[in-house]
Amino acid sequence: MTTLPTPPAPGPTPAIGIHDLSLATGHFVLPHATLAAHNGTDVGKYHIGIGQRSMSVAAADEDIVTLGAAAAAPLIATHGSDNIRTVVFATESSIDQAKSAGVYVHSLLGLPSASRVVELKQACYAATAGLQFAIGLIRRDPTQRVLVIASDVSRYDLDSPGEATQGAAAVALLVSADPALLAVEDPSGVFTADVMDFWRPNYRTAALVDGQESITAYLQAVEGCWKDYTEQGGRDLEDFAAFCYHQPFTKMAYKAHRHLLNYTGHATDEDRAYAAIARTTAYNAVIGNSYTASVYLALAALLEGEQDLDGRPVGFLSYGSGSVAEFFAATVVPGYRDALRTQAHRAAVDGRTELDYPAYRALHTAVLPTDGGDHRIAAQTTGPFRLAALRGHKRIYETR
Ligand code: CAA
Repeated sequence: MTTLPTPPAPGPTPAIGIHDLSLATGHFVLPHATLAAHNGTDVGKYHIGIGQRSMSVAAADEDIVTLGAAAAAPLIATHGSDNIRTVVFATESSIDQAKSAGVYVHSLLGLPSASRVVELKQACYAATAGLQFAIGLIRRDPTQRVLVIASDVSRYDLDSPGEATQGAAAVALLVSADPALLAVEDPSGVFTADVMDFWRPNYRTAALVDGQESITAYLQAVEGCWKDYTEQGGRDLEDFAAFCYHQPFTKMAYKAHRHLLNYTGHATDEDRAYAAIARTTAYNAVIGNSYTASVYLALAALLEGEQDLDGRPVGFLSYGSGSVAEFFAATVVPGYRDALRTQAHRAAVDGRTELDYPAYRALHTAVLPTDGGDHRIAAQTTGPFRLAALRGHKRIYETR
């Protein structure tokens, strides 16, 4: 029998987590009041019932690549690209069955060739998988940094119940040792169940969803990953200063949190849920569902709010239909306010161009040609990157 070598004693583990966070969103915005006026819905259903005020709409020359590159560019401008040996691109609105959208972003941003780039998919959950994979890589070599990009354009059929829960945004996270924003803790609760609550077959550009089933599946996943989180030695619910949930619509975060309170034997009153959730909804309420980016938009809104979170633990619930979910905790790093990009984020949201209903409908129905021919795409977005043409089955991007 061979004797296994004794592993070396572990050295001190540095804190690992999110060093910087940057967001980008679609060029256009459709207020829910405009949608309600068109379809005869009482606007209260949108504003109060699902908690949405408006949704971002991508321009014809925007896609997950241009949004992802726009989100990540400020991180590279501030921190450079040295030691970024891994780029993870999380999306469920992929543009290619083989090539990672991350490789286009890698090129647009001039990232080092000595890097690996992959695309990850599991509905809205994949960015959290990317974050956890990044932490594993950095634990192996704390000098490395990982760029995690979550980018999605959410589309449902026109005149369907899901239409009011569309959106478009990207979040880029620079993950490193000794982070400036958020130190991610080890215990993590995970949950997977094979359910058909939301999916998009390869031949469709808009998602299919069983709305009520999707809410039930989300709530089951909340129970499942919280149960596993506690079994992994996680914190008590009372420890958390706030909770960032995946927000397909902001009311869903309240439903999920009340469900968790009830499951853990706590009172489920509105005030308690409001105190835990309200500050995380500011971006999602006006951007709409950004799928993989949504839970990290909740984080951006929380950190950019008025509450002082120095040293406070925050709970994260990342859900992706189908379904996979994860609950984890992270501690806000003292002094985090100095690393926020509040002004740029608000400018991106406030700078969107409002659509009227016919213009929104025209954008929604226009699909990119699939004939493999040469097609120029008219300039619409004023963002730093645009999809300029299709040529020989290839997407051609332009940097401004
Ligand atoms: N004033 C105030 N509230 C009103 C109202 C009014 N005039 N009219 C209706 N409401 C309330 C309803 O009471 C309801 O509230 P509760 O859920 O608290 O009961 C709420 O508005 C919505 O009403 P309905 O359930 O009747 O709405 P709907 O049938 O149009 O469907 C939806 C809503 C299921 C969210 C639909 O928009 C949808 O299918 N969206 C896409 C799927 C989705 O987002 N699912 C979430 C979980 S899955 C997930 O998280 C992954 C993902 O990203 C997709």
